[in-house]
Amino acid sequence: MGRSHTVNVAAAIAGGGRADAARSERYSRPAVILHWLMAVLLIGQIGMGLYMVELPKRTPEVAYYYNLHKSLGLVALMLIAVRLAWRWRRPPPASPELHRSALLEKLAQASHRLLYACMLLIPLFGLAGSSFGKYPVKFFGYALPQFGWESPLLQGLFRQVHAAVAWLLCALIVLHLLAVVYHLVTSGGDVLRRMSVR
Ligand code: HEM
Ligand code: HEM
Repeated sequence: MGRSHTVNVAAAIAGGGRADAARSERYSRPAVILHWLMAVLLIGQIGMGLYMVELPKRTPEVAYYYNLHKSLGLVALMLIAVRLAWRWRRPPPASPELHRSALLEKLAQASHRLLYACMLLIPLFGLAGSSFGKYPVKFFGYALPQFGWESPLLQGLFRQVHAAVAWLLCALIVLHLLAVVYHLVTSGGDVLRRMSVR
């Protein structure tokens, strides 16, 4: 919680009213929109990634899915940059009632940091892998300048890291969902209300 808690509590006190305090216990509208948009995009990207690697190579279908996966992955990279910048400007809301102990609070924060790290590293390693391949990355049909050269070794290495971090993200998403269920059981719908558009 740290800085965010202090900032939000200070803002509530400065605002001087209960309404301000209640408002500060929710994520801001841009944070909520980015959270849900990215949840859909990332789960879609994981599904598409796993599907496309099983397709027969050098077919129009595989080219279509690889290009779409790369383009949407770059959109995810832009969105996460915006999301992190926004989070820096507007730290998450205080959660005094949400966790029963300081340890649980710390674990929740750590899991969120790991989720952010994965969201950033996966597209970066995807882009790095593709930059050392045969085909230039096309952003919805527009070929981007290639910063790497052809190197099957580097391409393979970056792609393996890309896949490994994507699996870590899958595990974290499962944990995240279990945490939401835990909160729903122990404290009702408050947790989802914090992440909903008012
Ligand atoms: C790809 C899938 C997802 C990712 C990467 C993700 C990531 C995150 C992150 C990083 C946060 C912390 C926000 C912050 O403090 O800055 C968060 C919060 C939250 N997420 Fe997700 N999320 C995903 C899917 C979901 C789903 C499917 C649900 C609901 C069923 C959900 C419910 C929530 C809620 C309720 C919070 C607010 C927790 C709080 O009050 O502090 N998320 N999510
Ligand atoms: C956040 C967004 C992304 C997610 C969640 C994601 C996820 C995945 C997953 C789960 C796979 C399957 C891994 C495997 O089983 O081998 C995959 C494969 C792949 N991804 Fe991504 N990816 C993302 C962004 C990107 C980006 C931005 C690029 C390139 C610009 C990219 C390029 C690739 C390529 C080329 C493969 C196929 C690797 C192979 O043929 O071995 N991905 N991705």
